Amino acid sequence: MHLRVGLAGLGTVAQGVLTLLSEQADVISARAGRRIEVVRVASRTRREEAVLGDAQFSHDLASLTDPSEVDVVVELIGGETSASELVQSALGAGQSVVTANKALIATQGQHLAELASNNGAALRFEAAVAGGIPVVGALRTGLAANRISRIAGIINGTSNYILSAMANDSADFASVLAEAQRLGYAEADPTFDVEGIDAAHKLAILSHLAFDIPTAFDAVYCEGISQITLDDIAYAAELGYVIKHLGIARQDDAGVEMRVHPTLLPKKALLAKVDGVMNAVMVDGHASGPTLYYGAGAGGAATASAVVADLIELARHSEPAPTVPTVAKSLRSIDDAVSACYLRVDCLDRPGVMAKLASVLSAADISIESIIQHEAEVRRRGEDSWVPVVITTSAVSEARMNAAIASLAQLPEVHGDVTRIRIEGLA
Ligand SMILES: NC(=O)c1ccc[n+]([C@@H]2O[C@H](COP(=O)([O-])OP(=O)(O)OC[C@H]3O[C@@H](n4cnc5c(N)ncnc54)[C@H](OP(=O)(O)O)[C@@H]3O)[C@@H](O)[C@H]2O)c1
Repeated sequence: MHLRVGLAGLGTVAQGVLTLLSEQADVISARAGRRIEVVRVASRTRREEAVLGDAQFSHDLASLTDPSEVDVVVELIGGETSASELVQSALGAGQSVVTANKALIATQGQHLAELASNNGAALRFEAAVAGGIPVVGALRTGLAANRISRIAGIINGTSNYILSAMANDSADFASVLAEAQRLGYAEADPTFDVEGIDAAHKLAILSHLAFDIPTAFDAVYCEGISQITLDDIAYAAELGYVIKHLGIARQDDAGVEMRVHPTLLPKKALLAKVDGVMNAVMVDGHASGPTLYYGAGAGGAATASAVVADLIELARHSEPAPTVPTVAKSLRSIDDAVSACYLRVDCLDRPGVMAKLASVLSAADISIESIIQHEAEVRRRGEDSWVPVVITTSAVSEARMNAAIASLAQLPEVHGDVTRIRIEGLA
């Protein structure tokens, strides 16, 4: 008996799924062991450009949650309200669900996994992280024998595009964002992407799979890229680094740490070479060693590739694979994190200022690795002239660095906020 699919949504990804299932129908049937057929489609708008074949169309999402007609519901409407209702209703009826909805899985994943398990259904979400890159499958199966110590990834194409274009074209954040919006790489409201929320959703999902913890989006520390300046990019380059927006999760005996923030990476690091809208995820397993997954993190066809992979897996097995059992572990606060830092402190151009900065850091027991001040960078504001001083430090706890930054900001010679960007070697 073929696998009967009910498709929710007719947007970018849903149209990609319809195209891929139709273009690759014979290969997919052969690999899945049976035909995969979209029998029902439900969406707010009947988009004429979408070719539905023999599928019945309805505006009513509830038309999909009929287990006598539909085996698997594919949720591609996005958002958290209607999508959650649909997914819960399908799982409650014993239908398996495939979704690309990272916000839904990151915030409600635990509850939905239990619902699936209680009703003998499967919940699959390969497309929810890094679009076309099969990293969910790698964690679920390929690396399943490993104790994972770290995940580090560029998991938001929009912010990576913006940082890459700022570095390559010497254009500031606002103008690159406007260009990204014009090209369709950034939404009209870019907050989710540039403030790191989308990456935090994905990191919560990856951490769930890697560390066997319930999805815990609220425990992910999140900082965006909107404060990164061309000065920071140029100083980072001078120091041998590239600025990337990374999601980093680590597990050790003390627990699990999850954070998303701009990061200075050495130019020679593999992730430093990932440019434009591309995504990449590095996973360190104790047996596998470091592994790296690279590819398109978004786009109709790439994301459809992941959705259809989930459908093929479901078609291959008559029994759903068990959901990942989770264990509560200590989720560490950002205050516990330890990293080397880049500091940019805009200072009045007066003698003795560097010594004052150094003494504040020394009083906080923070070692300076390097310090840069270019006389050519002196800028004027009213009567004052000021100059950026850039300092890199050795590894220091967040709490200690926060206190030192607060002390630096109180110096009368310091102008405006102190910029801090964490440095990762990814060794
Ligand atoms: N696009 C990507 O590259 C990408 C990559 C990875 C993951 N995803 C995820 O995939 C999902 C779909 O993304 P997309 O880019 O395909 O979105 P999209 O182009 O905006 O399409 C969404 C579709 O769902 C319909 N819809 C929205 N709310 C609905 C509701 N309450 N009831 C019925 N239909 C509704 C929309 O109808 P209208 O036509 O009336 O608007 C539209 O057809 C999202 O969860 C997204 O985060 C997307």
